[in-house]
Amino acid sequence: MSMSIESTLVETRVFPPPADFAKQANVSGAAGYQALLAEADRDPDAFWGRLARENLSWAKPFTQVLDESRAPFYRWFGDGELNISANCLDVNLTNGNADKVAIIFEADGGAVTRVTYRQLYERVCQFANGLKSLGYTTGERSIIYLPMSIEAVVAMQACARLGITHSVVFGGFSAKSLHERITDVGATLVITADEQMRGGKSIPLKPAVDEAFGMGGCEAVRHCVVYQRTGGKVVWDDKRDIWMHDLVKQQSTVCEPVAVNAEHPLFILYTSGSTGKPKGVQHSSAGYLLWAKLTMQWVFDAKASDVFWCTADVGWVTGHTYIAYGPLAAGMTQIVFEGVPTYPDAGRFWKMIQDHHVTIFYTAPTAIRSLIKASDANEAHHPKSYNLSSLRLLGSVGEPINPEAWMWYHNNVGGGRCPIVDTWWQTETGGHMITPLPGATPLKPGSCTTRLPGITAAIVDETGHDVEAGHGGFLVIKRPWPSMIRTIWGDPDRFEKSYFPSELKGYYLAGDGAQCDADGCFWIMGRIDDVLNVSGHRLGTMEVESALVSHEMVAEAAVVGRPDATTGEAVVAFVVLKRSRPEGDEAIAIGKQLRDWVAKEIGPIAKPKEIRFGDNLPKTRSGKIMRRLLRVVAKGEAVTQDVSTLENPAILDQLSKPV
Ligand code: WTA
Repeated sequence: MSMSIESTLVETRVFPPPADFAKQANVSGAAGYQALLAEADRDPDAFWGRLARENLSWAKPFTQVLDESRAPFYRWFGDGELNISANCLDVNLTNGNADKVAIIFEADGGAVTRVTYRQLYERVCQFANGLKSLGYTTGERSIIYLPMSIEAVVAMQACARLGITHSVVFGGFSAKSLHERITDVGATLVITADEQMRGGKSIPLKPAVDEAFGMGGCEAVRHCVVYQRTGGKVVWDDKRDIWMHDLVKQQSTVCEPVAVNAEHPLFILYTSGSTGKPKGVQHSSAGYLLWAKLTMQWVFDAKASDVFWCTADVGWVTGHTYIAYGPLAAGMTQIVFEGVPTYPDAGRFWKMIQDHHVTIFYTAPTAIRSLIKASDANEAHHPKSYNLSSLRLLGSVGEPINPEAWMWYHNNVGGGRCPIVDTWWQTETGGHMITPLPGATPLKPGSCTTRLPGITAAIVDETGHDVEAGHGGFLVIKRPWPSMIRTIWGDPDRFEKSYFPSELKGYYLAGDGAQCDADGCFWIMGRIDDVLNVSGHRLGTMEVESALVSHEMVAEAAVVGRPDATTGEAVVAFVVLKRSRPEGDEAIAIGKQLRDWVAKEIGPIAKPKEIRFGDNLPKTRSGKIMRRLLRVVAKGEAVTQDVSTLENPAILDQLSKPV
């Protein structure tokens, strides 16, 4: 493990919670926060046990809270049984929410559809009954490759209702990525759509599934259920393919939820690590949902009257916890949005907040930064051109938010009155970990502030010892928590080695570098491994490298991240071709070809922003690529480090020049 923390932010502004917000908050004032923190630290088992009994509806109550006997393979509430869909839907039929709107869906083109909790329950039951009629049962795995839609939530909930473990694949991933996930997870069911709509354009989905099937190894898939979104033309296999509307047509609107063990895998979600192969992060049922619901209440201050909007896609963990599960478990009304923030224009988010009277808005810094640019360019798309007075709370997720973007968000979107919760967490953590509580925590722009009750976040050195305030180190979580990753699907060794390295005393290693200030506020400083964060999306440099070298022209490739004002980081690739180094127009043309290739291999989000060609790559005499130097060169800075160990120092000159 190695890391370099070069600088820390110098930010002195502090924004205490507004008094009127604090007064009505679910966790109110420093005293409210401290009480929970103390309860959790005093007796974690009693704390989590109390919360799990109070917040979840159990088919069979648990008797043991935490089983550490096979650490780090922890079990939570391990002899309890429940159903996740029943905890999201059935509970809302008897608590007065039956006719409350659960989802306000706004399509790319602007059409709005509403479903109540009762209607959502019925649709989930019908779909679950349809899956049952095809013979699907508890313990199987499904791949869900759907656009943002009510159907996506229905599909996830229906799987949960039957105990089918789902693995959602983001609609922007390629056929190849899809194939990798279908085979790795051993899927027997695929749920997709004919096409998706984004920014006024239709993008095919079913053809990517067909292509993935064509790659072989997917023989275990018995059915492909297709949601007809656009009516676009699709190739049909009568034996395997079935329209979603045909499947649900004759089905009963009642489907008994299947009680599963608390530890039953609710879902597997693939995310990038430091090798070329994405990791299937496996989550539990009870512990996961408990934290999804609690963080809705604590961090988002969920109230019966709220209209909640998380702009993430269900293909990412944020869309799992804060669209498909958390808001429903908390009985909220939420927005589900199919489109993009810039269509038909860059005022789309603000118009939707205005139209639907959104009270809580949760988005990513990269979206905020691009909308700052767009509203600078055109007043009409500036938040001040809309009525955003319904907002009471803002959130940020996915990457560090720079203080300038934070201030703009606070002033222009939040009208200076809404607290911002800058939530630090990961696919692996299942839910928020370090974040302000809006009615309790003083905010510092750029800091995700303090740990949540029960979450023992700390900064340690390479031997696992606490580092002093103001010094950088590894961000770890010392004690297990209910919504933590259970294992990497099919690779328990990798799970242990990646997250619980032996030198760190059994602590969970997050993979981020960070430091704490004197007030105990955390400042995240970026990844310590070869993982990039581009527009809030995790990408492994090795993944992009292996995509590049799989192209017939490429001999060698090295990929690094470069700071980017809009996307946080940008992918820069250094490529050696098998033929001679291209220059001028030819280099531009081949660069384009390779960028398209990466989009086809992984997905458009992985496309390098820039490709530079060299006769060679900077290597040590033992043949190791010096990525540290490539990062400097990618930034356009002069190399001041010692290059005496370099086999071929002259190469740096060549790679310094953009095509
Ligand atoms: C980064 C997304 C700073 C971090 C929920 C983490 C953040 C990775 C923040 C996880 C934040 C996420 N401030 N950095 N508020 N939130 N990150 O798995 O590097 O897609 O390790 O989960 O995003 O990304 P993932």
